[in-house]
Amino acid sequence: MKYGFFDDACKEYVIERPDTPLPWINYLGNKDFIGLISNTAGGYAFYRDARLQRLTRFRYNNVPADTGGRYYYIKEKGKKAWNPGFLPMKTALDEYKCRHGLGYSIFESKKDNLSCSLTCFVPLNENCELHRIELKNESKSTKQLTLYSFIEWCLWDAVDDSENYQRNLNIAEIEVEDNVIYHKTEYRERRSHYAFFGVNRDISGFDTDRDVFLGPLRGFSEPLVVEEEKSQNSIAHGWYPCASHEIKLELLPGETEELIFILGYVENSPKEKWESEFKNNIINKSKAKQIMTRFATSESVVKEFNALSDYWQSLLSRFKLDSGIVKLNRMVNIWHQYQCMTTFNLSRSASYFESGIGRGMGFRDSCQDILGFVHLIPERARERILDLASVQREDGSTYHQYQPLTKMGNHNIGSNFNDDPLWLIAATVAYIKETGDSKILLEDLPFDMVKGTEASLFEHLRRSVQYTLGHLGPHGLPLIGRADWNDCLNLNSFSTEPGESFQSVDNKESGVAESIFIAAMFVLYGEQYAELCQRFGGADGAKEAKLMGQELDKMRNAIYEHGWDGEWFLRAYNAFGEKVGSQSCKEGKIYIEPQGFCVMAKLGLDNGMAEQALDSMHDHLLGDFGVELLSPCYTKYYKELGEISSYPPGYKENGSIFCHNNPWASIAETKLGRGDEAFDLYRRICPAYLEKFSEIHRTEPYVYSQTIAGRSSSSYGEAKNSWLTGTAAWTFVNISQAILGIKPDYDGLKIEPCLPKEISSYKVERFFRGCTYKISIERIELSESESNKIKTKIFVDGEELSAGTQQIPIQDKVECEVLVQV
Ligand code: BGC
Ligand code: NOJ
Repeated sequence: MKYGFFDDACKEYVIERPDTPLPWINYLGNKDFIGLISNTAGGYAFYRDARLQRLTRFRYNNVPADTGGRYYYIKEKGKKAWNPGFLPMKTALDEYKCRHGLGYSIFESKKDNLSCSLTCFVPLNENCELHRIELKNESKSTKQLTLYSFIEWCLWDAVDDSENYQRNLNIAEIEVEDNVIYHKTEYRERRSHYAFFGVNRDISGFDTDRDVFLGPLRGFSEPLVVEEEKSQNSIAHGWYPCASHEIKLELLPGETEELIFILGYVENSPKEKWESEFKNNIINKSKAKQIMTRFATSESVVKEFNALSDYWQSLLSRFKLDSGIVKLNRMVNIWHQYQCMTTFNLSRSASYFESGIGRGMGFRDSCQDILGFVHLIPERARERILDLASVQREDGSTYHQYQPLTKMGNHNIGSNFNDDPLWLIAATVAYIKETGDSKILLEDLPFDMVKGTEASLFEHLRRSVQYTLGHLGPHGLPLIGRADWNDCLNLNSFSTEPGESFQSVDNKESGVAESIFIAAMFVLYGEQYAELCQRFGGADGAKEAKLMGQELDKMRNAIYEHGWDGEWFLRAYNAFGEKVGSQSCKEGKIYIEPQGFCVMAKLGLDNGMAEQALDSMHDHLLGDFGVELLSPCYTKYYKELGEISSYPPGYKENGSIFCHNNPWASIAETKLGRGDEAFDLYRRICPAYLEKFSEIHRTEPYVYSQTIAGRSSSSYGEAKNSWLTGTAAWTFVNISQAILGIKPDYDGLKIEPCLPKEISSYKVERFFRGCTYKISIERIELSESESNKIKTKIFVDGEELSAGTQQIPIQDKVECEVLVQV
């Protein structure tokens, strides 16, 4: 069952009913000012840090789930009021649509021949959300209306806001001037920022005290002020500050009215904090007024809206696919890339499942997010890589998380996830291959943000490698530490206290528990490091590359000798040196991660292990909705395994389809040249392909979720944790590079597709180092005997590249035509 449809021409998903199985959300804003918005206009806004600078209040985990948002109440004389997004009043609408687009959401609704279109977006270069409302009287008689806006302010720090009432119910402060409501809580003391909510026309009243607006014993679905059509002009002192405007409108038959509401954020320098030195409690509003003036007219807002569309148009023109397959085109051209932008911006901090208060930026998460984002805005990827490297510690280990505002490593969770350091190589290499900017390796960066410890990024990467080499276990495989990519495989935690966090409990390092996953990572990214040495390592580079080569051989041998279980790659050794992910285990006999990652690292390609590992993965882990993480699922808690066995069977890391690792399996298939299998794995978890099962899948059909309940669960196929998942980046890498075969490399653009039968020809436009490559790829059907002889042929602007090469050299034109025959 579907709840809407893809409008590909507009690059939108159009939701046709408000009662989606979960709030289906979208993100407004790309950089500093961010809003989350659901299909019923719920959600919140924040400036840069979802925890520390939250503008509006949202109640996570509430009943109903989606409580708190940007609410407009439309009240016609004598009739029940209604909201363009259906919530919170739930008045039945005659028409309802929510269009989630790239950086905007539009609500189109109608009631009693009054139509309303509400467009919400964050303009490109201003810290505010714009809400443009168009009301049209489609009836034959004049309509007398009152429109109420409503948002509730959050007292900035979202954690304190939800727990420290003895203080924070005393601190709220508000100012109202003309048609703008200013939220200035804590401005009198240590904050130099405030928020405002204004409208571009005269108001007949306002409220800033939530309880006055709602009235006694009432919720958002029945505000007294709306019912009585009478704002109280209340000014909040402490308690619960809100912002609501009252606007009276008269619409003649056929007449349309447009209003612009602006929710903004302003920082003042300490010197210019106040209106004047004599008016110490009156905030300096000049910046807010500038923003209000800038967007005072519909024309200016429409212009900004168009600028946002142009911006996305130009970003998405960097990779465009024409495959003839509608679902594939829509995911590649629109939603994959859009989700990559979102994960890059937010890491795992703020979604409808991540509360914005728990985590800052994840180290490994952000490194991987770069892989799918770097082609969009390489400069921002560069900045991020430098930030990430600066939270690395001198011994090469890295903080697991850091705070986006301070850029400091997060002490609560610390370090010891032994895969973390190697991801920095992955991100850096992807960046250099995309841009050619190898100078980034020379950037001097501190360790752990400590001044005086600066060393080049190259040195940081070296420390990553050395960290792994300095932490090998009894089989010569990397020690897992607290956990590896699977942060629930806690082989050294032995946690027995209820409620103790597996992520931060004392790590009782055994010096024994080893990870085959990190071993495979070491091979993959260690090879990339060796190549960096060879290419950019200066005089000693070749020597270092050679030494690295020896280490890589040792690691490969350790994997072949101790990491192979007979039919698949082992997952790990626990703290007692016992196998994890082996035929010999009672539960958790086979895991997906080492199958995917070992083969991605080209392990076992010559000795049959790769093929056997992937076949075993198919046999044991593959269901209709993708490849499960492990099988059989753990049915009881094993303290020597940790959090993974804390989840009921089929959920999360305990054997759900944990989408992030499915693209690894698909990329692995391409290493074996199995295009059909690769594409099949791509398709099984791909949201657009699951749209028809929306009532089962439940999360948004336009973006990936972290996890889909597995066959052992009681809700097979049900997804959770949509939006912020590494699946976004890895899927884009998989489909664009591994399957469609467009691979940026140091000296050019490589074309190495591995295609399924259903794709016989396709076109890609790829912007790469200043040139747009217009590539047409055709598959030539070859007989068995021919296929050994004939290799890929590539013609660039009509000229054939020398036989055998699959790399188009860097072009110094702005555009070129490429014809590829494979
Ligand atoms: C989850 C993981 C997550 C980790 C850190 C665990 O409870 O299962 O998927 O990465 O917490 O937040
Ligand atoms: C989610 C975390 O954000 C990510 O870092 C981790 O790799 C996966 N869970 C797997 O456990």
